[in-house]
Amino acid sequence: MTARSLYPHRHLLGMEGLDAVAATSLLDAAESFFDVSRRAVRKVPTLRGRTVINLFYEASTRTRTSFELAGKRLSADVINISASTSSAVKGETLLDTVKNLEAMQPDVLVIRHPASGAPHFVAARTRAAVINAGDGTHEHPTQALLDAFTIRRAKGKIAGLTVAICGDVLHSRVARSNVHLLRTLGAKVRFAGPLTLMPPDAAALGAEVFSRIEPALEGADVVMMLRVQNERMSGTFLPSTREYSRTFGLNAARLALARPDAIVMHPGPMNRGVEIDPAIADGARSVILDQVEAGVAVRMAVLWRLAAEAHEAPPA
Ligand code: NCD
Repeated sequence: MTARSLYPHRHLLGMEGLDAVAATSLLDAAESFFDVSRRAVRKVPTLRGRTVINLFYEASTRTRTSFELAGKRLSADVINISASTSSAVKGETLLDTVKNLEAMQPDVLVIRHPASGAPHFVAARTRAAVINAGDGTHEHPTQALLDAFTIRRAKGKIAGLTVAICGDVLHSRVARSNVHLLRTLGAKVRFAGPLTLMPPDAAALGAEVFSRIEPALEGADVVMMLRVQNERMSGTFLPSTREYSRTFGLNAARLALARPDAIVMHPGPMNRGVEIDPAIADGARSVILDQVEAGVAVRMAVLWRLAAEAHEAPPA
């Protein structure tokens, strides 16, 4: 089996519809890239001569930096463009921007955009491989992969685990990508949050839906907290931040409802004291910074899979 036949896709646009073989092949490749970032010389020649463009139309710290580091640690040439300093501010359309970048022969375009579906629109119109780095409230596939990678390392498996995803599910592309991937890999997924922040199709996505956090935490192996995404809210979804943290924030008393060995995750950026008590975020059960470290390895794996020649193997 070659790497290409395990992941027979040209792009990475979402976790919906990706099968367990393809997803697992990316997690396994990430495993082989993980150690590169812990070596004294954090670089392998795998993507020498390839070009990766990061095109970000939304704010980002972790995702943009880790895509850049992932590309550089694979020896690719990496260019970063943020919309606020690009010709987008002069009125250039997304398609024109992409066509102009394409004329410079990139191998991979990594796109973050506030409009759900923007990376799919681009993928249908470019020769480059496209990676969705977060599109609106739709999907964030590399986040789901790094979350699965972190869970697999901490728990030794994913199948059979119960994962509680709590908070602003409605606006969360992280929750959407995670429910697809975790269910594909055999986990049970629970969504918990105020019903004003729950997507109407939550149950159809295959999650068990809770309007209170306590029953969702009971017996959970993994507790994933989500940020309250105020920037995506156009109306009033919550009575107040204080009320939200009192009823839905993760604190020690609530975490005690989960399994004694449960891990705590958060995709970042955190609203400390809102969805998560700082003592929990920084506590012994937190794997939040492990998620960040995993992000580099997972993005190396994805860039490698989409940009390397079919015969190239990951580093030993
Ligand atoms: C998330 C995002 O942008 O979707 N952050 C991330 O990429 N790690 C979650 C968020 O913004 O709350």
